[in-house]
Amino acid sequence: MAIREIVYMGDPVLRAEAEEVTVFDEDLQALVRDMFETMYHADGIGLAAPQIGVSTRVIVVDLRRRDEDDPESQQVALVNPVVTWESKELAKQAEGCLSIPGLEDVVQRPVSVRVEGKDPDGNDIVLEADDLFARALQHEIDHIDGILFVDRISPLKRRMLLKKWKKIEAEAAAEAR
Ligand code: NI
Repeated sequence: MAIREIVYMGDPVLRAEAEEVTVFDEDLQALVRDMFETMYHADGIGLAAPQIGVSTRVIVVDLRRRDEDDPESQQVALVNPVVTWESKELAKQAEGCLSIPGLEDVVQRPVSVRVEGKDPDGNDIVLEADDLFARALQHEIDHIDGILFVDRISPLKRRMLLKKWKKIEAEAAAEAR
């Protein structure tokens, strides 16, 4: 297992449509293990493969530390996940992203979703998720389609957020010098 480097907004891999997984082998399972380890190390609740520079349709989510009472908030790894149903009911909640550290904003999404995909061994998985679990799944599935949460906020808020991000980037670059 290894902690991989997380890539930040501005890296083109985060904007690519990630590749469908066709081979369920030891390499895929190693990727999933690294993703979990990287996510825990960064204290995140979800991670998508493009966030470690791998343009493939794999996501991991683990809310157990944030929402211990929710029996559905299990540790999940999903390969080729697709949202096959979403509730009409929407909810607004603040989201952050390990690829945009230091920034968050309120994003409106369906409260509940059904997600279908495979586990890392190639078995079919169907998940019914609500609330934070549903939100995390949608956020990570967005990543494999090249979508970031900043794309789902109003243009005005996005401009403000991107301005803040430029400042954070400039400060990081200055520190690295
Ligand atoms: Ni994210």
